[in-house]
Amino acid sequence: MNITIMGAGYVGLVTGACLSEFGYKITIIDVDKEKVKKINRKESPIYEKDLEEILKKNNIKASVDYKDGITNAEIIFICVGTPTKDDNSQDLTYVKNVCIKMCKYLHKDQIVVVKSSVVPSTTEKIIIPLLEEKSSLIEGKDFHIAVNPEFLKEGSAVKDFMHPDRIIIGYKNNVSKIVLESIYKKFNCPKIFVNPTTAEMIKYASNAFLATKISFINEIGNICKKLGINVYDVADGMGHDKRIGRSFLNAGAGWGGSCFPKDINALISKAKEYNIDPVILESVVKVNEYQPLKIIELLKKHISILKDKKIGILGGAFKPETDDIRESRTIPLIKALLKEKAIIKLYDPKAIKNFKKLFPNIKYCSVDEVIKSDAIIIMTKWKEFEKLNYKSKIVIDGRKIDKAIKESKIYEGVCW
Ligand code: UGA
Repeated sequence: MNITIMGAGYVGLVTGACLSEFGYKITIIDVDKEKVKKINRKESPIYEKDLEEILKKNNIKASVDYKDGITNAEIIFICVGTPTKDDNSQDLTYVKNVCIKMCKYLHKDQIVVVKSSVVPSTTEKIIIPLLEEKSSLIEGKDFHIAVNPEFLKEGSAVKDFMHPDRIIIGYKNNVSKIVLESIYKKFNCPKIFVNPTTAEMIKYASNAFLATKISFINEIGNICKKLGINVYDVADGMGHDKRIGRSFLNAGAGWGGSCFPKDINALISKAKEYNIDPVILESVVKVNEYQPLKIIELLKKHISILKDKKIGILGGAFKPETDDIRESRTIPLIKALLKEKAIIKLYDPKAIKNFKKLFPNIKYCSVDEVIKSDAIIIMTKWKEFEKLNYKSKIVIDGRKIDKAIKESKIYEGVCW
């Protein structure tokens, strides 16, 4: 079977690479010539565990040519990004552009699968009408649509693809249902068949729920801190209840990344479009915005005037094992420290290049240099931070590093 993937971002690359493991012939289309060249040289344009090995051994071709990619495809996966607009609603420019460009070559009996995260009703209300208008073909008669959201975590995306908890397939008629069922026939997990809008909502509700779990435990942690309780003991105790579960109850500096913030904001914006007041979702964001500021409050307990004080920050990536800094909680932390006129020294094993673009004027230092600061703030749970010497240091910890708890002269966990 020939499968074409639109978009060589991390979802497209991982989807293409993993499907190639099942013997499908994969073509990845992207406008970025450099990415295309890299993939054809069997190099991964992004760092993602195990991805390059799969690219190296399988039959994957990348191209900028829509004609070739679409004409020969039996199935087309749309995997381009859906960023956030200034008003927090979803920006569908890339999805729309891809649809318009591919329509020229779309032909009878092809299946178009929406894998990009799009807010509920987008496929029905925007994608299908656009494809029909620009191709003069009719969905359900000439071509078929499916929605198949991804649940990949950066850093473990290949593993998540190969061993999913569930596969969600939104379909409109049996043709796309049968084809998608057959693509995923070797996956031994529940497959849930729903309509396209429900499939879209499952993705958004899942991300919103995970972000809610984190903000919830952070709020409980903020209360725990005042009462002298370790919120991690509370999370362990709660987690044994199968209805709750222990995962995503790690309290700390808050959630970031390319998905939770954009998805939750897009869902809030969608709710408002329908005059629903998304009380819980807005509170989830509010708690998350407060956590980095809370770190400053804790710091000021020990150094009341931050002006000209050297503040070392350990960690810039939004989570370990990535160089991704999108919506990292370190960003609002640095902004708040800059307002206080502190001297900021940042160390991260992977994300410095990205931070330099955002904050060219702060100091980027070796870990040894950062640790010599007047106070240290830990923002990413990198394993190497468990090996540092925190003796005689003031540490404000946003990620619960055990060695810092044991050794620091003054230690403050953000909510424990
Ligand atoms: C997230 C979801 O976990 C994936 O299921 C989803 O497919 C993906 O978004 C997406 O929509 O594409 P990801 O953004 O890669 O994946 O990162 P996570 O591992 O979920 O972490 C998100 C943030 O939450 C990080 O900043 C992390 O530090 C924070 N976090 C996570 C906590 O603060 N506490 C926790 O217990 C877990």
